[in-house]
Amino acid sequence: MEICWSVKGGQGTTVVAAAMALAAAGDGVPVTVVDLAGDLPAVLGVDGSGPGVTDWCAAGQGVGVEALDRLAVEVPGGLRVLPRGTTRWSAAEPTRMAALVDDLVARSASTGHRTPVVDAGDLFTGRPEAGPPGDLIDPLLEAADRSVLVTRACYLGLRRISRQDRRPSEVALVVEPGRALDRHDVEAVVGAPVTMRIPVDPAVARSVDAGLLARRIPRSLLRAVGSA
Ligand SMILES: Nc1ncnc2c1ncn2[C@@H]1O[C@H](COP(=O)(O)OP(=O)(O)OP(=O)(O)O)[C@@H](O)[C@H]1O
Ligand SMILES: [Mg+2]
Repeated sequence: MEICWSVKGGQGTTVVAAAMALAAAGDGVPVTVVDLAGDLPAVLGVDGSGPGVTDWCAAGQGVGVEALDRLAVEVPGGLRVLPRGTTRWSAAEPTRMAALVDDLVARSASTGHRTPVVDAGDLFTGRPEAGPPGDLIDPLLEAADRSVLVTRACYLGLRRISRQDRRPSEVALVVEPGRALDRHDVEAVVGAPVTMRIPVDPAVARSVDAGLLARRIPRSLLRAVGSA
């Protein structure tokens, strides 16, 4: 499993998670993307307003993993997205979340599909209805094959990283012109390598705004995530 997360809003986390999944699905092998933060269906241009992860995690043991198939929304480009859902995170059971991810990982391995990609969102700000709580997300970060912090070379963001305990296995650096800090500063603070340099490209913003990222992913983005 691959998880993207941030410590500050609006860094580009959802776009990076979507791009990693689209790049992995590029050769025709389906990929499941799991939305824990709420924006992934919109970024992929599909309707994700129905029940999803939070509802399944709040349901009793009587609702089995087969119900997950009914929650998944098909996306052009070979993705299936599991939407965040309609229930508050406080009703979600952490053991159900772990079971959900275990099932997705096991099923992708047994069917030869790519490993799932998770958008965990901003884990610092702690807006209760946005991202998942710590007791739910920390076991997933521990178990992930890739735990990807998405950040800009932003002093305020780097301060937050040093003020919290979570550490990624790698960093996706969203590169903007004019920043005083660079990848070496980011690596020194985070303690993990920058494996993806994602250029800020107006074509990406336009594609997201039009809901077309899954249909026409800009080359700059595909190249940036594919190089990792
Ligand atoms: N590489 C990029 N180039 C240009 N624009 C980008 C890029 N990545 C993201 N954006 C734009 O920046 C905005 C925020 O992106 P995104 O939603 O991925 O951030 P986020 O970290 O997931 O935000 P949130 O904390 O709200 O979940 C969007 O309008 C998106 O279109
Ligand atoms: Mg997001």
